[in-house]
Amino acid sequence: MSVLGRGSVFAIAAAAILGVGAAAVAQQPAAVIEARQAAMKSLGGEMKAIGDAAKAGSITRDDAVARARKIDDVAKRISTLFPAGSGPEAGVKTAALPAIWEKPDDFKAAIARLAEASGKLMVAAETGNAQTILAAQGDVGRACIACHRGFQRSN
Ligand code: HEC
Repeated sequence: MSVLGRGSVFAIAAAAILGVGAAAVAQQPAAVIEARQAAMKSLGGEMKAIGDAAKAGSITRDDAVARARKIDDVAKRISTLFPAGSGPEAGVKTAALPAIWEKPDDFKAAIARLAEASGKLMVAAETGNAQTILAAQGDVGRACIACHRGFQRSN
């Protein structure tokens, strides 16, 4: 041990700490990022399906409720989709901006806005009324856009 000197011991200890820390922060950034992009894509799919059916006047209460619930489920767990270490520094293709982790309060507010809108969409869906559902779907859409504007890289 003495041949390594104190500096090396510290370096080894630091590497060990960093290794453990990195594992705890984001176990597999690629998998995390892939899962959140899939969750986002599913949001897009449900939103489009509700919007199209409501505009066509062909929406059914059951379909609207089922889709609104899926949107609400994702909205309620969005914060878990962005663990520290799953940003651009992960070295995986992601449109998540560093602002997500630099301005956590703003990001939380953007999530809360979506959760509030998706909760209202659930109530609107129960009515089965196309116009009511379309209005609530529009509010959800604005919540999506508001977050993307500040936290998703556009290109
Ligand atoms: C709180 C912030 C936030 C909200 C709210 C939000 N998104 Fe996103 N969304 C993001 C971020 C950040 C990304 C980039 C994720 C990445 O590339 O890792 C993204 C990516 C996406 C993508 C691209 C996924 C892909 O294929 O890479 C779609 C589609 C999408 N969002 C749809 C939606 C819809 C629809 C809503 C509303 C129902 C919504 N998002 C709400 C932050 C948000």
